[in-house]
Amino acid sequence: MQITRAGTLFLLCCFDLCFASSFQRFSFNKQELEHYRLETRNLFYHGYDNYMQLAYPHDELYPIKCCERTRNFQDEADVVRNDAMGNYSSTMVDSLTTLAILGDKARFREAINLIRTDLDPDFKINTTVQVFETTIRILGGLLSAHLYATDPSKKVYLGSEYDGFLLQRARNLADRLLPAYLTKTGLPLPRINLANAYHNVTPKILEENNAAAMACPMFEFTLLSYLTHDDKYQQVTRYAFDKVWAQRSELDLIPMSFSPHNQMAFNHYTGTGASIDSFYEYALKGAILFQDDQLWEVWQSSYYALRKHSKDDWFFANVDLSRGQVVYPWIDSLSAFFPGLQVLAGDVQDAQQKHLLFLKLWNNYAGIPERWVFQPQTADTLANISEVPLPWYPLRPEFVETTYFLYRATKDVFYLKVAWTILQDIKTFYRTKCGFAGLQDVTTGQLQDRMETFVLSETFKYLYLIFDVDNELHTDSSNVVFSTEAHPMWLRSSDFESYRSQKQFNDTLYRDHLTHCRHRDVAARKSSLDQFFEGISRYVFHRSEQPRINSSLEFETDADLVSMDQASCTISASNDIRSEFSYSHMLSEFDRLFEVDHLFAETLRKPTRFLDRGPMELEPDFYRLWCRNSKRNPKCRVLPTTESFEVIFELDSSFAKRRVPLNRYSSLANLTIANLAGIRMQIETLYDGAIDIYGELVEAQNIAHVPRENVYGAMTCPATVTGAVRSSVMVPTIYRATAVDGVPLALNATVRISSLPSFGKALTGILGVNSDNMLLLDDVPVMNVIFAV
Ligand SMILES: *[C@@H]1O[C@H](CO)[C@@H](O)[C@H](O)[C@H]1NC(C)=O
Ligand SMILES: *[C@@H]1O[C@H](CO)[C@@H](O)[C@H](O)[C@H]1NC(C)=O
Ligand SMILES: *[C@@H]1O[C@H](CO)[C@@H](O)[C@H](O)[C@H]1NC(C)=O
Ligand SMILES: *[C@@H]1O[C@H](CO)[C@@H](O)[C@H](O)[C@H]1NC(C)=O
Ligand SMILES: *[C@@H]1O[C@H](CO)[C@@H](O)[C@H](O)[C@H]1NC(C)=O
Ligand SMILES: *[C@@H]1O[C@H](CO)[C@@H](O)[C@H](O)[C@H]1NC(C)=O
Ligand SMILES: *[C@@H]1O[C@H](CO)[C@@H](O)[C@H](O)[C@H]1NC(C)=O
Repeated sequence: MQITRAGTLFLLCCFDLCFASSFQRFSFNKQELEHYRLETRNLFYHGYDNYMQLAYPHDELYPIKCCERTRNFQDEADVVRNDAMGNYSSTMVDSLTTLAILGDKARFREAINLIRTDLDPDFKINTTVQVFETTIRILGGLLSAHLYATDPSKKVYLGSEYDGFLLQRARNLADRLLPAYLTKTGLPLPRINLANAYHNVTPKILEENNAAAMACPMFEFTLLSYLTHDDKYQQVTRYAFDKVWAQRSELDLIPMSFSPHNQMAFNHYTGTGASIDSFYEYALKGAILFQDDQLWEVWQSSYYALRKHSKDDWFFANVDLSRGQVVYPWIDSLSAFFPGLQVLAGDVQDAQQKHLLFLKLWNNYAGIPERWVFQPQTADTLANISEVPLPWYPLRPEFVETTYFLYRATKDVFYLKVAWTILQDIKTFYRTKCGFAGLQDVTTGQLQDRMETFVLSETFKYLYLIFDVDNELHTDSSNVVFSTEAHPMWLRSSDFESYRSQKQFNDTLYRDHLTHCRHRDVAARKSSLDQFFEGISRYVFHRSEQPRINSSLEFETDADLVSMDQASCTISASNDIRSEFSYSHMLSEFDRLFEVDHLFAETLRKPTRFLDRGPMELEPDFYRLWCRNSKRNPKCRVLPTTESFEVIFELDSSFAKRRVPLNRYSSLANLTIANLAGIRMQIETLYDGAIDIYGELVEAQNIAHVPRENVYGAMTCPATVTGAVRSSVMVPTIYRATAVDGVPLALNATVRISSLPSFGKALTGILGVNSDNMLLLDDVPVMNVIFAV
């Protein structure tokens, strides 16, 4: 790892400094933040104004050719091109709320007037589009703009000059999309023709839909019901949301895509990226916006399932639905949004860790590849697959979004530095003559002539909000949430009251449709009663090896700035910190900042064009200012030499049946659980002289003299200890639980099991209990798992 020399950086940034002498770079004082805020705003205008001049009223602008980009009118089945381009001026509609957040009333008003004059009020447009994309970009954009225009507390409030027509437009569009739900299952078709519904649409493009696309219109449509009191939007889309959740496996994991015609799943794994991402997002955000306890339950259960079955230290893996084992060693660019959602849920600590992996990817590529493979491929698996098999990056917003949430939650300048880096990279690598082009290949830097609508509606919005610390949204006391397309949504308490008292569902077509769907559900449930669960007591004992970590850290450092002592792994910085500054917690106290670089050294390879690009977190000027604190020197945790594995206690088939989430995100002290059944436990093998996962040295005295025999009887007692009923023997190795159901245990935390072990004699030899009431696994004591009865 190399730290970019200060001199180089100064030259790169000289241009900025010339115009911004009122601040010291990385002091992040008011003037500096204001400078970046204005820069971000101007970048947005560069894209938006060019679109309006060169491409409006068409959907998009070619940022390199500098003319309009439209759908493929010749080939309706060209879904890659057409899905998000309905010939409805999508870039402008999707940008409305960025204008609102900028407080730009003039452009906001102008855009709304253009919608009134230019856009077909009935959306009777002969184009086939994706229901989900049209919902989040267009319907969501119209609804959020309507909220802004009618809220007197907002800068772009339009008062009496606005008659509320956007809400009627939103309703007209929703009526065009809703026929997609008229399937036998009640799950929506992926696409629909805005003028002709599903008539004459090629059946091939209606066969498969993904979980997010089927579940998520619920959010925008429910808001529409709140605002119009017509409850059909809510009921029809909510039925589909609940049905997607009902497709979950016994482990509460949801398949990523299935057929809207017969619910057949197309795959048997899940993750947090493409196809499933917004399901989680809208379960939580719907719970907040609509104060909906059932959605909250869905969020709790689904997030618990992910934590239990899919969580690695640094990302959520793609896991098998019925066993929760990692099946594909990659992560999607889209999953970068997930840490932001964790922040919203209150799991900030884990969010900071998950965000780091994406930060390292950004260090490498100045972008996030669509897919990155974290495990080096060996000859016998998928030979010769590049670590970036899908190498494009269309300036997606998810990493900026997560950075925004983490900054708002922690106020750690670390995240301002991330935002600063993103800002510089956008200027350097993505800005074109008339807009911003995505990268076709992050390894070569080849551009694609495309500016997706989310660049203006999301990427720049979140970046702007990071620097605009005083934005009106940040002091808003209503429960504002961002839609998955970054459109802010909120409801006033009067909206709740009027919705509850006035909602109606008059439309007989949709009412009858839902009634039929529910009848079919009841019939299906009856026939599945035959499939009795076989109550045979059985055990399944899974173990999975974790990759062994190489414990030698190597840093090539800028000697006059940072020196790293290899042995203790302590970084010490020079002493010129200015007292009015606080420090960055992530830089100064988080002791696993470089573990990712190390763990994934084989697949986090820099493209040759970036060989001398330094890691953003170690940029000298930033580091010098922020990496220290009054209490202690920054530290790197020593990497473990122990091995870890996972155990699933599938006792009486309870693995799948367990439904009592551990409602905590980490355990600092002792954890009590009712029984072992269904628990997924991470276990570390300790031996004298090892470094454990907490970075501590394991000493013989702490693991010796632990009784080993199983009090359940002689079956497993080795012949050599006959007679000695309770002798203690020296144990060369011992186990320790380090996580239970995805809840990490702090050093010294004990897991107490409050009921007697239920496995009895049948499992002796595999499971047991010693005379200290400790759990035994294969006759090895698990030193911190105690039966407390
Ligand atoms: C698409 O939009 C353009 C510009 O508004 C319009 O001229 C054209 O007729 C539209 N095409 C369809 C199929 O609606
Ligand atoms: C809709 O567009 C398709 C293909 O672009 C065309 O074949 C069809 O005639 C149009 N239908 C109507 C009702 O305009
Ligand atoms: C439903 O029908 C009632 C009675 O005809 C009518 O007053 C009401 O406006 C209708 N509501 C909606 C949402 O269409
Ligand atoms: C992998 O790439 C190497 C070198 O390019 C080649 O010799 C080898 O045949 C490839 N293996 C497979 C399975 O394609
Ligand atoms: C650990 O890394 C060092 C330096 O890269 C290397 O020399 C050594 O072989 C590695 N050890 C293992 C066990 O991979
Ligand atoms: C946790 O349990 C251990 C062993 O059972 C006990 O010694 C310790 O006091 C407990 N700690 C707390 C914080 O309850
Ligand atoms: C863990 O226990 C050891 C030995 O009792 C003690 O020295 C150490 O301070 C404890 N660490 C924490 C983090 O509680």
